[in-house]
Amino acid sequence: MDIDLERIGEDVPLLEGIRTTRAIRRLRPDPVPRALVRKVCEAGTFAPSGGNRQPWKFVAVYDAGTRAFVAERYRRVFAGYIAPALEASRDPAFPESGRRMQRAAVWLAEHLHEVPVHLFLAGWTRRGQPQLQALMPAAQNVLLACRAVGLGASLTTLHTSFGREVDEKLGLPENCPSCALIPIGWPLGRYGRPPRRPIDECLFFDRYEPRAGEESDAG
Ligand SMILES: Cc1cc2nc3c(=O)[nH]c(=O)nc-3n(C[C@H](O)[C@H](O)[C@H](O)COP(=O)(O)O)c2cc1C
Repeated sequence: MDIDLERIGEDVPLLEGIRTTRAIRRLRPDPVPRALVRKVCEAGTFAPSGGNRQPWKFVAVYDAGTRAFVAERYRRVFAGYIAPALEASRDPAFPESGRRMQRAAVWLAEHLHEVPVHLFLAGWTRRGQPQLQALMPAAQNVLLACRAVGLGASLTTLHTSFGREVDEKLGLPENCPSCALIPIGWPLGRYGRPPRRPIDECLFFDRYEPRAGEESDAG
């Protein structure tokens, strides 16, 4: 594969890239050059972090055995997670965009072992706690960089329910758990604007005012 590493991804306008970065879960099994993974992870390191501590470690798993190990466990956890959602989606009022998302998530769970790169984001614990929030800006930068260079990617966290098992396999110490798994590959589909509520439904100046018919997602 002939890739100009200096140039690739450098021309996407920032805001357009942000607006068209969506979860790309259907990915080809074709190999992804390590140099490209290095480039998107380097973008991750330009994220902000508390006290600029830069707590992240990126572990890009190419090894087929490890990917199968992760995929097998992911599938099992995912099956329990998606079952009630699939049930809910039988309701004719369930939004079509939600059904599309479910289908893509199911596809990812079924094909995770074939996804060429499992990128884990790990970080030092703070006061004994994993720091998902400290890694999220870096994760988003990786997703944006993938969008820029034409790789497909999505953010997942389901693996944390069997996190220690994976972390041991990756050689991560207990005080540096993996908090996110970004499956990366060449996309089968295309990037585009994801479904989002209009900004005026969620932007307030000076003071929040509940609006008629507003639904709460609070758990
Ligand atoms: C904290 C967090 C955890 C997530 N975990 C998973 C996951 O385990 N599996 C998965 O398929 N997607 C996961 N997602 C991806 C979301 O489902 C996705 O961002 C959302 O559906 C919006 O997708 P879109 O940008 O394509 O519209 C996660 C996203 C976030 C922010």
